[in-house]
Amino acid sequence: MIETTDEQLKSTVHDYWNEKPCGTQFINDRRGTKEFFEAIERHRYAAQPYAESLCKFKAFRGKALLEIGCGLGTDSLQFARNGAMVTGVDLTEESVALAQKRFELYGMNGVFRTADAENLPFADNSFDVVYSFGVLHHTPNTQKAIDEVYRVLKPGGEIVIMLYHKHSLHVWLGVPLYFLYGLTKGKLWGYDEWVRIYDGKENPLGKAYSRRELRTMFSKFNELNFKVCDNIRPRFPKWLNALNQALFASWAGFYIMIYGKK
Ligand SMILES: C[S@@+](CC[C@H](N)C(=O)[O-])C[C@H]1O[C@@H](n2cnc3c(N)ncnc32)[C@H](O)[C@@H]1O
Repeated sequence: MIETTDEQLKSTVHDYWNEKPCGTQFINDRRGTKEFFEAIERHRYAAQPYAESLCKFKAFRGKALLEIGCGLGTDSLQFARNGAMVTGVDLTEESVALAQKRFELYGMNGVFRTADAENLPFADNSFDVVYSFGVLHHTPNTQKAIDEVYRVLKPGGEIVIMLYHKHSLHVWLGVPLYFLYGLTKGKLWGYDEWVRIYDGKENPLGKAYSRRELRTMFSKFNELNFKVCDNIRPRFPKWLNALNQALFASWAGFYIMIYGKK
């Protein structure tokens, strides 16, 4: 069997997200127009009404904030509107170009560049805040990326990071159902496959973590704490989303927010 190296896998991760920047699959407006960016923003926060508080958009006025995996800059824009000095990096040229264009369209200041989360092009102790939402579980060496977050953060600096949560209804219910569905197609689809396709059938890589694993991976950080949440899911009827949000999202949701300090 031919082994895929991390660099080869990262190249397929790059190609996937460069062709399908995050959120573009839901929007029909022409890429790069104001209508397009506004539709992206509406869609995003309709699905994640918790974002303003859990992502702490208003907490970093005057702080140097790095967003890793900024995608189209949707969250970067919220931080910038609330007075943070934003630097955004993404593995893909297309996302960086669109994020830059978006800031220009809105007359906002922000610096965007392509970069790999596992090898950040910044000096040690550069940022007050490192933010990353739904990104580091798509890179082959997630621990290396977390070590980079620590390196570029100033002493006393803060992290706000979202990764996928293993101990979630999405996994507990989805994996067995997907396994049974796979059998009807003659396939043996398991946990890895189920987590991967959350971001699209062709997404090359997705991973999910338990709190225990995260405690080890983020062990260098102080004041580590977690909050669990879940998206409003477009395929669910209203009543099911309401039930999920009321009873399960805060402990068995698929997203785990990680907070900590250096
Ligand atoms: C699910 S999207 C999230 C985008 C954005 N954070 C958001 O919430 O809209 C994942 C993003 O991670 C980026 N990404 C994946 N691996 C990366 C890496 N090693 N370094 C930097 N960005 C990466 C992809 O290019 C993509 O834009």
